[in-house]
Amino acid sequence: MTQTSAPSESLAAALHARLTSREARVGVVGLGYVGLPLAVEFARAGFRVTGIDLDGRKVTAINEGRSYIQDVPTKDVAEFHAAGLLSATADPAGVGELDTINICVPTPLRKTKDPDLSFVVAAVEMIAEHLRPGQLVILESTTYPGTTDEVVKPILEKRGLVAGRDFFLAFSPERVDPGNEKWTTRNVPKVVGGLTPACTSLAKTLYGASVETVVEVSSPRVAEMVKLLENTFRAVNIGLVNELALMCDRLGINVWEVVEAAATKPFGFMPFYPGPGLGGHCIPIDPFYLSWKVKEVGFEARFIELAGHVNGAMPHYAAQKVADALNTRAKAVRGSSILVLGVAYKRDIDDFRESPALDVMAELQQRGAKLSYHDPYVPRIAAHDWPGAETITSVPLTIEALSGADCVVILTDHRQFDYRLIVEHAPLIVDSRNAIKTPAAHVFKLGAPGGSGSVAS
Ligand SMILES: NC(=O)c1ccc[n+]([C@@H]2O[C@H](COP(=O)([O-])OP(=O)(O)OC[C@H]3O[C@@H](n4cnc5c(N)ncnc54)[C@H](O)[C@@H]3O)[C@@H](O)[C@H]2O)c1
Repeated sequence: MTQTSAPSESLAAALHARLTSREARVGVVGLGYVGLPLAVEFARAGFRVTGIDLDGRKVTAINEGRSYIQDVPTKDVAEFHAAGLLSATADPAGVGELDTINICVPTPLRKTKDPDLSFVVAAVEMIAEHLRPGQLVILESTTYPGTTDEVVKPILEKRGLVAGRDFFLAFSPERVDPGNEKWTTRNVPKVVGGLTPACTSLAKTLYGASVETVVEVSSPRVAEMVKLLENTFRAVNIGLVNELALMCDRLGINVWEVVEAAATKPFGFMPFYPGPGLGGHCIPIDPFYLSWKVKEVGFEARFIELAGHVNGAMPHYAAQKVADALNTRAKAVRGSSILVLGVAYKRDIDDFRESPALDVMAELQQRGAKLSYHDPYVPRIAAHDWPGAETITSVPLTIEALSGADCVVILTDHRQFDYRLIVEHAPLIVDSRNAIKTPAAHVFKLGAPGGSGSVAS
């Protein structure tokens, strides 16, 4: 490709005009929990959106007008697809025809807790093959500060085009909160940091069409760090309250009661709640992108590492709580029937990636429990998706299932569970989420002494 001599101002003006008139062709690479909601919002704003994903099932679903993400109604996908505003492909050949390309591919950790940027690199290499002057590329995948500059930019520039002059480049962290009905892709403010003021301005124009508030920052690096601050803030505060739960357990105090009362302070306090561990694609992972990066400059991210230790030990603590509860009935974990309720990483969603429930279940299984689970959102867990390494399916939540279990363990507090039925029929309950509000002698809570009947007063 020959290097363009076109000044960035005219390219920027042309793209700006296409964005404001909605003539711009918008692309989203990676159509998962982040990419599909974003693509739908762009379509809602009136852009013609092309989603690119390697997963043929997702491509087929969109082209058949179906959603596969709980927060995205099929009605929207069907409507925008029928209107010619939303389509998907696994073929990158059309990337050159797009005006903007948002990258929403996974950024997991390797087993060693080092960042795995292989999906980002593959996606950027694919875009680089087709890059042409005047395009805007925005990375949305959560990553360490410097990725856009140090990893994405050199790959895109390999064929001679220069970022900020021939094409535009920015980072904008995704803040989607699956299952949150109040805060959606549309009304959560979007932080944007471009390589140059023109890059920022164009990214702002694109997002401004489909999200309510756009917040500009001075560089991609700042935008990358914003996301890591947000998720590290959560990981550290959850680590703190999890440690407090362990302290309360030893001291015979109910941590849930403590947090609820502390939360009545109208300033200077924000409640976080303990649980069986961290889950999902963000909080357990993203802070380690930062701790890995700062090692390069000889810095040790102590809060992150400490929170990682505390949070990482919670599944074991929850399993131990089950053993302790069974012990009060003169039973061992080995041979006991244990029914787990909820395996998704948080309430009311179907995502069980990194869910701490899987670790708790694996430990109980390894200690000899006869394990079953019920989760209305997760019908099946394949052998390769959890450390228990055998495929298991959700059992119906019946009176027989509850009364036949030696212990029922609440690991995810889905709102649709009938807690009255559970308390009435389960002989013994370990509640790791404070889902059961009425104290009962056969209910044991994580971070609280004995059967929670003892904390009624
Ligand atoms: N899920 C969340 O709640 C959430 C919230 C904020 C930020 N994020 C971040 O957003 C990014 C995406 O997360 P997600 O949860 O949407 O992931 P996901 O696994 O749900 O979706 C990613 C999609 O990218 C596709 N993909 C992978 N490599 C590709 C390639 N080279 N070309 C085209 N498609 C490719 C996959 O097939 C998949 O459909 C991650 O960096 C994550 O940390 C996620």
